[in-house]
Amino acid sequence: MSDTAAPEPGLYGGVASRRVRTRDLFAAKERGERWPMLTSYDQYTAELFDAAGIPVLLVGDSASNNVLGNETTLPVTVDELLPLVRAVVRGTSRALVVADLPFGSFEASPERALDTAVRFMKEGGAHAVKLEGGKRVAPQVEALTGAGIPVMGHIGFTPQHEHVFGGYRVQGRGTDGDRLVSDAIALAEAGAFAIVLEMVPAEVAKRITAELRIPTVGIGAGPDCDAQVLVWQDMAGLRGGRMPKFVKQYADLRSVLTEAVGEFATEVREGSFPSPDQSYS
Ligand code: KIV
Repeated sequence: MSDTAAPEPGLYGGVASRRVRTRDLFAAKERGERWPMLTSYDQYTAELFDAAGIPVLLVGDSASNNVLGNETTLPVTVDELLPLVRAVVRGTSRALVVADLPFGSFEASPERALDTAVRFMKEGGAHAVKLEGGKRVAPQVEALTGAGIPVMGHIGFTPQHEHVFGGYRVQGRGTDGDRLVSDAIALAEAGAFAIVLEMVPAEVAKRITAELRIPTVGIGAGPDCDAQVLVWQDMAGLRGGRMPKFVKQYADLRSVLTEAVGEFATEVREGSFPSPDQSYS
């Protein structure tokens, strides 16, 4: 990928000079066109992913355990996420930027959710927000969309509930699949413009995708969703350690950086960096 790469034809076809809108995503579903989504938390990845034609970028609460060094997504705050949202919005000209509402910032009431979402739209410049949960948060989704804020839902394994789920576990197996379908319908009826399906059986995701007129975005939800999302550090192989089954690594950035930093350190120790090329006369 280079920052001069032409956007993929399709979702950007004909709309290359303007921001992607939620209506473009509905039209893509009608055409049967799948689209990629990535997380982004900073200016450079935002610029690069935007230029590569990724139509939707998510400033996820996954910044908590992928940028800020926490073990889970739970500790990250609105004040910590806001500057990241601003950076991603500034780094893009076409992608629709979605800001994640972190744990504790929206569950208590639709009013609380609206206050938080307004901050992301007004102070962060986000174009939409995402929140985790099924039917229980439908009133929040309704309040936000009613106030002019597009909302992406998120059901299945929702990391903010990991202590209730007992860890990272597939949701919606067996008869529990019906619950997920009715959660998805409730969110769509409340006005959500898309729904993330995380770690759910492929068959359940296929049912939900067929049932809804709005797009589904899969992460560990099989091949039949309308879109697919990954955390960028997982996709590009920057994160070390054990990877969830649903991750495919398209690069090995960890090795590339390890090699680069090793060479830099060696050259500094040997005195070969800086050379005359990097020095002023
Ligand atoms: O925060 C996040 O990165 C997410 C995606 C994994 C969907 O919610």
